[in-house]
Amino acid sequence: MCGISCYIGGEDAAPIVLRGLRNLEYRGYDSYGIAVKLSDKIEVKKSVGRISDSSLQLPKSNIAISHTRWATHGGVTEANAHPHLSCDEKLALVHNGIIENYTELKKELQAKGHKFRSETDTETAVHLIEEGVKGGKPLMEAVMEACRQIVGTFAFSVISVDEEKMVVARRGSPIAIGIGSKGDFFVGSDVTAFLHHTKKSVFLDDDQLAMIEKGEGIKYFDIKTGKEVEKKITEIEWDPAEAQKQGHKHFMLKEIMEQPIAIQKAIQGRIKDGLPCLEEIDSLEEFLKNTKRIVIVACGTALYAGWTSEYFLENALRLPVEIEYASEYRYRNPVVDDSVLTIAVSQSGETADTLAALRESKKRGSKVLAICNVMGSTIARESDAVIYNRAGPEIGVASTKAFTTQVSILLLVGLHIGLLQKKIDEAKVKEITSALQQLPEQVKEALAEKESIQEIAKKYYEKKNALFLGRGQNFPIALEGALKLKEISYLHAEGYAAAEMKHGPIALVDEETPSVFVVPKDRSYDKTLGNVEEIKARKGNVIAVSNKGASEIARIADDVIYIPTVREELIPIVAVVPLQLLAYYIADLRNCDIDKPRNLAKSVTVE
Ligand code: F6R
Repeated sequence: MCGISCYIGGEDAAPIVLRGLRNLEYRGYDSYGIAVKLSDKIEVKKSVGRISDSSLQLPKSNIAISHTRWATHGGVTEANAHPHLSCDEKLALVHNGIIENYTELKKELQAKGHKFRSETDTETAVHLIEEGVKGGKPLMEAVMEACRQIVGTFAFSVISVDEEKMVVARRGSPIAIGIGSKGDFFVGSDVTAFLHHTKKSVFLDDDQLAMIEKGEGIKYFDIKTGKEVEKKITEIEWDPAEAQKQGHKHFMLKEIMEQPIAIQKAIQGRIKDGLPCLEEIDSLEEFLKNTKRIVIVACGTALYAGWTSEYFLENALRLPVEIEYASEYRYRNPVVDDSVLTIAVSQSGETADTLAALRESKKRGSKVLAICNVMGSTIARESDAVIYNRAGPEIGVASTKAFTTQVSILLLVGLHIGLLQKKIDEAKVKEITSALQQLPEQVKEALAEKESIQEIAKKYYEKKNALFLGRGQNFPIALEGALKLKEISYLHAEGYAAAEMKHGPIALVDEETPSVFVVPKDRSYDKTLGNVEEIKARKGNVIAVSNKGASEIARIADDVIYIPTVREELIPIVAVVPLQLLAYYIADLRNCDIDKPRNLAKSVTVE
């Protein structure tokens, strides 16, 4: 979704915000723009398409706001790109979110003589603020007043030619403020916008506003009451170098390859003497001892991580575990009460539907545990407890290391609850944690197959359709494999429970539609072999993900990708790796924009 990058301080602002915008490119965008404050005017440059240095030659200034736009209201045009200016061009504003009552507000403002230059909902805000300023209000008060009149979601950053200030406000859309070491401030829709300058960040909560004054510092206010509030500075643990490609062709490949270390960090210090040690959820101990049901809410890949874990959690805890598409859950009348643990899984911690689902659960008395990768994110802050993935920044739009770390952490959570509820004995827990500690090495082994996966990609990249099939816990892995292929290569791929094929989808199988089977040597191996035979009997090509020594599948399948042999609970984590690589190499051969696939945004902050 849209990105915001702003600066106020003693340095030349335009190059700083431009670099921040580039760091945010991964969020997805179709146009962009920058405004710099000069002594007598605000200069704005906007453009459609990718950020280019040449189109943004701007004069020196210490205050700048900038934005990458992912179109919602109004087409992809320069006029619709942010920043938007007031009629007198003395105010400039960037916005993430949606102003729901913009039609009424626009009518009122037009009746007062305001001239609109774009089709966006955003432009309404800058005219509304202009009304306040014209009425004699300082910028901060005018922004606060406008926020009170707006229905919908926003993260705003606003500047005025008449004041050496920047006003930042939030309701429903994330915004972070970076506290620089030289009395300077950075504003970003997420911390990657400014992480290379500072790791100190303040996250605004809903209905909060920050007024940053050049040379004076920052103050925070509650928009509803107008009263000043205190805010805490969070120290971000990520290393800015992690947000670079580090020699890889794409972020996605870098992130696939760093999974061993990501898993290592995710479990580090969280296993002591062979037992899970999750201090983050200590406060929920009494609740977890008695919880009767688990509901996992998430979207996309995070949902598949939850779905994968469902098999282990149900088996180990003997509790009902439900997987819910967050976007559906919130519009039902879910049967949830104070005996239910809701687990919200989200890499970004900002996905609007997941956030709404967790709020729905909380409203009904459920305790919410978040598994998030981004520190200080909204989902992390609104949950009763949070366990961070510690996977480092995930920049590629297609989620990879977030998935494997989410599944690893969910496994530890399951073991922890299992011990609290006395459903699983310590000896078994120790066996599993010991296996989990070996997992980074085994994921390395799975990654070592990359050349053979590249060769397989060469055979299939020109096909139009593919099926991904698996049984049991390998079924959500098949769903994830299909999602990876679709989103980055634009090939049609369907994930299916292997045995369900006979009930319809098998009609799709022919010489042109390959099937990727996740068929490790586990309890469903023999049954899945039968499903492979069904595909072969219909002349379909089969690519199998299986273990060395699985001679039956090697005999039937056209191609086999080998994964190391691991404990059953851990199979999904090693099995997903070749599917990520297969999607990556196919997309690369098809010359797709892998890190920024068309139409997609890294963090989906609108419904
Ligand atoms: C797929 C992908 C998306 C996200 C989904 C949820 O590769 O990245 O499906 O998994 O949008 O995002 P988070 O985890 O940030 O809530």
